[in-house]
Amino acid sequence: PTTVALIVAAGSGSRAGGTQPKQFRHVRGKPMLWHSYAALAAHPLIDQVYVAIGAEQEAGAMAALADCKEPILLQGGATRRESVYLGLQVIAATQKVDQVLIHDAARPFLSSKVIDDLLDALSFAPGAVPALPVVDSLARGTDILSETVERENLWRIQTPQAFAFQAIYTAHQSWTGAEPTDDARMLMAQGSDVRIVPGAEALNKFTFSSDFAGNNMTSFRSGN
Ligand code: CTP
Ligand code: MG
Repeated sequence: PTTVALIVAAGSGSRAGGTQPKQFRHVRGKPMLWHSYAALAAHPLIDQVYVAIGAEQEAGAMAALADCKEPILLQGGATRRESVYLGLQVIAATQKVDQVLIHDAARPFLSSKVIDDLLDALSFAPGAVPALPVVDSLARGTDILSETVERENLWRIQTPQAFAFQAIYTAHQSWTGAEPTDDARMLMAQGSDVRIVPGAEALNKFTFSSDFAGNNMTSFRSGN
C-alpha cells in the first residue's frame, strides 16, 4: 500500500508562549518539527511526508527542515482540523494514497515501534491510535467534585493516528460537529472501528511552556 504522513504544524502555540511558534523551538538540539519529520521520513513503510504550516511560517519551516530530504510544505488552516482537512485535500489531488498517518508537530518524540504498531493495526480496522491508560483518579465537577468517573477503559489518545485514506477523508468531508481535538473521533462518528495500540509517555504533547523543561524530555531519555 502507498502510505503517507501528514504533520500538522500550522498552529501558533499560544499556550506555550515564546517568541516563535512552539513547533520551531529547539528541543533536544533540534527544532521540534524536525524530530517527528525525521522519524516519519526514515520509516521504510512511509512513502512521503507532508507538513501543513501557517501562512507566515514558510521561513521557519524551511529552516527547521533544512537538512531533510524533500519536505513537502502545504498550507494549513485556522484550526487544527482545518489544517488536516486542507492537507488531505491536497494529498488526494496529488497522488493515489491508501493509508495516512496524521501527526501533531507538537509531539516530537515518535518511535518507529509506534509507527509499526499503527500500520499493523490498519490490517484489522480503518483507524488506529496510540493511547495510554489513565492512571489518576477522575471526577467531574466545577468547584466541588460532583461525580466520580471510573477510569477503567479510559484512554489518553495521542498521535500519530493512522487511517485508511478514503475513510478519514470521507469522515472529514462529512463532519458537521464542533472543532474536534483529534481525527479518530471523526472516524468513530462514522461508525467505524478505531483500534488502540500502545502509546508512549515520550509522545505527550508540548502544550505549555513548562513542557519544554519538564517530564516530556526526561522520559524520552530514559527510553519509555
Ligand atoms: N495546528 C495546526 N493548525 C492550526 C492549529 C494547530 O496545524 N490552525 C497543529 C499545531 O501546530 C500542533 C497540533 O495542531 O502541532 C496540536 O495543536 P496544539 O497543541 O493546540 O497547538 P497550537 O494550536 O499551536 O497551540 P495553542 O492551542 O496553544 O495555540
Ligand atoms: Mg491549538
